[in-house]
Amino acid sequence: MTDTITVVDNRTGREYTLPIVDGTIRASDLAQIRAEGDDHGLMAYDPAYLNTASCRSTITFIDGDKGILRYRGYPIEQVAETASFLETAYLLLEGELPTATQLAAWEDDVKYHTYVHTNITKFLSGFRYDAHPMGMLLGAVGALSTFYPDAKDIHDPHSRYVQRVRLMAKVPTIAAFLFRHSRGLPYVFPRNDLGYIGNFVNMTFEIGGKHEPNPVLQRALEILLILHADHEQNCSTSAVRSVGSSQVDPFSAVSAGIAALYGPLHGGANEAVLRMLDEIGDVANVPAFIESVKAGKGRLMGFGHRVYKSYDPRAKLIKRVADDVFEQTGLNPKLKIAVELERIALEDEYFVSRRLYPNVDFYSGLIYQAMGYPTDYFTVLFALGRLPGWIAQWEEMLRDKEQKIARPRQIYVGAAERPFVPLAERG
Ligand code: ACO
Repeated sequence: MTDTITVVDNRTGREYTLPIVDGTIRASDLAQIRAEGDDHGLMAYDPAYLNTASCRSTITFIDGDKGILRYRGYPIEQVAETASFLETAYLLLEGELPTATQLAAWEDDVKYHTYVHTNITKFLSGFRYDAHPMGMLLGAVGALSTFYPDAKDIHDPHSRYVQRVRLMAKVPTIAAFLFRHSRGLPYVFPRNDLGYIGNFVNMTFEIGGKHEPNPVLQRALEILLILHADHEQNCSTSAVRSVGSSQVDPFSAVSAGIAALYGPLHGGANEAVLRMLDEIGDVANVPAFIESVKAGKGRLMGFGHRVYKSYDPRAKLIKRVADDVFEQTGLNPKLKIAVELERIALEDEYFVSRRLYPNVDFYSGLIYQAMGYPTDYFTVLFALGRLPGWIAQWEEMLRDKEQKIARPRQIYVGAAERPFVPLAERG
């Protein structure tokens, strides 16, 4: 078998043979196919990148038909079962699981960078009490770049390591400050005697110097973060890569990822699921709601995925986490509505024929709510989880010799050339 494809351009009768590598042809190879000598050559038109690979990556593998997700080759089920979040982050960032010594050094580096400049607290105080935490997060993470001008030194591996540590260490601190900001509570500063998750939970929930940690809830949160840690070329990761390709510093690039994640079709879906469950209100209203979705009046939030056309493996794991959490906190009353929605949707021809299954966001919001996080904070937790993935993908993009500044082409369909009309002469 020859790994080539032969294309006949019926406009000219000319034949072209293009190489196929890893199941892809290079879109730039199409440029040689021209109808006339001076045209720009053939382009691939792919709005929303439905069938375009934008990079070669060694980080995350997904088989959407089979419901497989692996980080650096390790099945997500095994990573989530055994690893810590920082261990997972190390795996994504370095490519291999750490030894005990490497892990201890990585944990120490992160632990000793958790403080943020006091001016960040002043910056946050400029936001209104009801500002959406994702808007605050993207602003604050972008602002970090002004505190660390050395972050511009993106071609220096040591500087990249320092920024990676700063991001992993400081974003949870900022995230916890946002939680306190919206409640009007004083900020709780990082504690070096606590682990990564323990410290974050303490910074969010401590009151009067006290917080009784619940190890089951902390491990549940850690598993959720692990499940969100990377998901190859999704919208926010593509945003990080695309913005990062301009060679801006990583704080600005990650801030773009946070902005993308904010949207209701991406990370904002977990928030939208809870609002949807509130709107449905009762199990008895589920069939009518399903009918309204089928009639095109809105979407069943937390269902469907661009890549997974079977059950999202993360959603399966999250259901197990939900059992552990609800055993501690008591059942979230909205769970019944969610379970009924899933039951009906998985039997309904509309959802079955479109291969719409619950995604990672369908149950995660219910868990976050049971843990005490408000609805508009759920996406912040998603961002904390996705952080190592964004950084790993940014770094991979920078080291990839084939990458350049991201700059898609377009098909211009606007007006042809016409003379400018002065204001006084316009109708
Ligand atoms: N509810 C109802 N119908 C849906 C849903 C849904 N959640 N998702 C897709 N469909 C339908 C579409 O209407 C379309 O139907 P049609 O062929 O009759 O027009 C068909 O399924 C295909 O949908 P697309 O929008 O083309 O699929 P796409 O891959 O572009 O969208 C997306 C994927 C954005 C995730 C979509 O399924 C959706 O909006 N889901 C709800 C939001 C959500 O849960 N997002 C979280 C994604 S996971 C994550 O970011 C962590």
